[in-house]
Parts: sequence; C-alpha cells; structure tokens
Amino acid sequence: MGVKGVLSVVGVAVIGVLLGLNYSGKHSTPKTDQSVPAARFQEIKPGLYALPTLWKPLWGLATVPTNLFAVRVNKDWVLIDSGGEGAIEHVAEAVKQLLGSSDRLRAIFYTHAHFEHIGGTARLLQDHPDVLHILHEGEMPFLLTTKRHFWEPTDNWKWAISRYIAALMNNPLDTLPDISANTAVLHGKTGDLADITVQGKKVSWAPPRGRLQWLHVPGHSPGLMLLRHVPSNTIVAGDIFRIGLDKGTPKPELLPVINATQAVSSVKALADWGDWQVAYPCHDAGNGSSHAQFSDFANSL
Ligand SMILES: *[C@@H]1O[C@H](CO)[C@@H](O)[C@H](O)[C@H]1NC(C)=O
Ligand SMILES: *[C@@H]1O[C@H](CO)[C@@H](O)[C@H](O)[C@H]1NC(C)=O
Repeated sequence: MGVKGVLSVVGVAVIGVLLGLNYSGKHSTPKTDQSVPAARFQEIKPGLYALPTLWKPLWGLATVPTNLFAVRVNKDWVLIDSGGEGAIEHVAEAVKQLLGSSDRLRAIFYTHAHFEHIGGTARLLQDHPDVLHILHEGEMPFLLTTKRHFWEPTDNWKWAISRYIAALMNNPLDTLPDISANTAVLHGKTGDLADITVQGKKVSWAPPRGRLQWLHVPGHSPGLMLLRHVPSNTIVAGDIFRIGLDKGTPKPELLPVINATQAVSSVKALADWGDWQVAYPCHDAGNGSSHAQFSDFANSL
C-alpha cells in the first residue's frame, strides 16, 4: 500500500469521528428538515435573501447544511457563494426563480474557495456567462494553481488531522473553468464593493457605494471574507463561525481552522466591526447570531 493508500485508510477512519463531531453530534443539528431544503431563496431582511442547501461531499456519504445568500440592488443581484455537490442544480434553479425574466445576476462574491462555496460556479456560468467573480487575493492560489488548502501550514492539531478528510473530498475546483479574466481580486483588510476592478480596469457594473462592505477574516482559510449588508446592518458571515446546537440551544462556535491564531483575531475583529445587528454564517443550526451573543462568543475565545 502506497502513501496515498495509507492516507485514505487513515482519512476514512477519521471521517466518521470528525463528521459526527462537527455536523451531526450534539453541537450541530441542522435547522431544516434535511430531506426537504427550501427550494427558493427567502427574504431574511429587506433586499437580503438566503437559500438553505445540503452539501453532500464524500460521494454523498456526508450531508452538511450550507446556506447561500443573495443581495438585490434594484434589478441587479449579487450572489454570495455558488454551492457544492448535491446542491448544484438546486442552486441554479433557485437563482433562476429569484431573477425572474428581467433581472440580472451581476456578480458572485465568494467568501472563500472551499468546495461547498465555489463548486456551483461552472453550472451557473452556463446560465450567466458574463457574471463577475469576486475573491480575496488570499484565495487566488487555490483557484489558479493546483495548490490546495488542506496542505497549508497549520498551527493546530485538529486541522492537522481533519485536512486528510478535506483531501478525500471530491474537488469541483478541478473542473472549474479559468475565471481569472473575469475575477475582481480584493486586496487588504476591508473595502466597499463599489470599488472593485478587474486587472486594474473599472467593471461594467458594481454595487452603489455604501451598500456592501467586505472584511478579510483569515483563519478557516487564508482569504476568507465576510460581507456587511449596510441597508439592513446585517453580516453575511461566511465560515468565520458556525452555529451548532448545545442541548437544543443555538450556539456560535469555530469551524476547523487552518490558522487558529488568525481565526480568533478574526472573530474579535468582527465583534468590533461597528454596530451590526445579526450575523448569518453559512453553516447554521439556528437563525443567525445577534451582535451581543457573538461578542460573548468572541470574549470566550
Ligand atoms: C498563523 O498566523 C499567525 C498570525 O498571522 C502567524 O504569525 C503564524 O505564522 C501562522 N501560523 C502558521 C503555521 O502559518
Ligand atoms: C428559527 O426561527 C424559526 C422561525 O422564527 C423558529 O421556528 C425556530 O425555532 C428557530 N430555530 C432555532 C434553532 O432557534
């Protein structure tokens, strides 16, 4: 048995333990009936929509509730993440219903380039070939090269183990078309999506200033970002945290993280990022986290 074989055996043995620990144990029961994810986006705040999906990696053996979001700006839309295996057709159909006959999908903002956040892109490109992609520079190596998140240097044992599971997962990035010519790369710590450019050139459409602000929150992955929907003062939080259930009570917690030092700083940065009201993570067993609950979480780390 070669190195790959050994890694696979170790990985499979650890899968059950970690998936149980992470997603189906006492800490994380999904909020929706797993067999019937909502078919359509629901408006959760004026102009902000959420779509619960079920990501089914590992050849469908695992099921992870994963929310996508969408922001409406008049007749233009920004999608936040594109879904992953098991949810790709579901996302394409839900986006079609959301737009109707006259609206346009202008951009996809990726919180980061993990499988369940970017895996639906090739399918969405069939319906929306001109869509703009928005990614932080910290994620670009994983998009443009064969470099993968799982082998990045880590500072914690949990990731040192769970990276083997990540490595076993099907990888839709392998089949992603080259989107670099149509990708707005964000640099630095924070900004307004009104300022996006592609290779230094102004884009044909960007959201109006003061509508969508981004924050770089590395830890779970190097280029992880979140968005503030300014009109409703709401955070679309990506994977900076998730909400599990602790004896039936929704509770913010960290996901597996490549760099735990950065992850903790990022949580504290969000807690201090102005006076937002609610944060909705992608993996959520509750109904988002109030700012007060999130600040308690940040103080507990
Ligand atoms: C984790 O992040 C900290 C803070 O940015 C950095 O000093 C450290 O080198 C990183 N650790 C690894 C293993 O990359
Ligand atoms: C989330 O909100 C819905 C509707 O208000 C409610 O029925 C449900 O119990 C809430 N879930 C949790 C885990 O609090």
